[in-house]
Amino acid sequence: MHAPTLSHTLTADLIFGYNASVAGELAALFIMSNIPTGAEKEAYVERLFSTIAPKYDLLNSVMSLTRHRAWRRFAVSMSGLQPGDRALDVCCGTGDFAFELARRVGENGGVVGVDFSEPMVELARQKASKLGLSSVSFQTGNACGLPFDDNSFDCVTVGFGLRNVADLPKAVSEMTRVIKPGGRVVCLEISRVRSRVLLLPWKLYFYVLTPYLASFFRAKRSAYEYLPQSVKEFISREELAAEFEKSGLIDVCFHDLMFGAVCIHIGTKPQLVG
Ligand SMILES: C[S@@+](CC[C@H](N)C(=O)[O-])C[C@H]1O[C@@H](n2cnc3c(N)ncnc32)[C@H](O)[C@@H]1O
Repeated sequence: MHAPTLSHTLTADLIFGYNASVAGELAALFIMSNIPTGAEKEAYVERLFSTIAPKYDLLNSVMSLTRHRAWRRFAVSMSGLQPGDRALDVCCGTGDFAFELARRVGENGGVVGVDFSEPMVELARQKASKLGLSSVSFQTGNACGLPFDDNSFDCVTVGFGLRNVADLPKAVSEMTRVIKPGGRVVCLEISRVRSRVLLLPWKLYFYVLTPYLASFFRAKRSAYEYLPQSVKEFISREELAAEFEKSGLIDVCFHDLMFGAVCIHIGTKPQLVG
């Protein structure tokens, strides 16, 4: 007998997703979690993104139906950033969030993008130079141990990154550490649609269709099986808000986009007392 593949497990979940009690029993037979944890997850995720780097932008546009730029723009509008400010984008990938931040802070401001995948960072650098954005720079580094001093930035953003980090509380506390008091942490992340009517079409698209789309565009299909699985295993929007609060952020709130398929979390670092 063959072990169930990730597609089989997700299809099983999709079919049984509406009936929690039956799904509980049946899913246990089928569902496997093939995302490793801890240091193994870190190595796995780094390898995965380094492999898909050349196709990342194309597939991002296809799979989000080109909406990803508007989502980042909306997230940046909630950053509280002003011209001349300094911002950090964690898990920056090929740089699109950092570019949006750079437009916001202008030539007198500064933006740093950090990611642990060298191929992603290299693409971000090439795109910055093509765009002529001199206020943005990119470097390799780990979200769970940011190479910056405390209170260095006016805002820290992370786009579609927290789901991938091996130690989420550590990454959130690192982002909180490096922003100045009064600054904001803004997280844009894939979430689960809230509308029961749209749940089935969303699951079909996300769990079943996206790996096929990846194959169609000759991207590594297994990487796009990881995508829905990572969303499935990620904590809920309410739990993420609680993580923000645990790290010391205040006024934590979240905004759903696309019926909750995408969610933006925002938290503010308290001003120093006294
Ligand atoms: C889905 S991509 C998102 C890229 C970009 N933020 C965007 O909006 O398109 C996730 C990125 O997170 C990076 N990443 C995952 N875990 C990381 C970590 N612990 N430290 C630094 N980068 C990490 C990956 O290398 C990858 O480039």
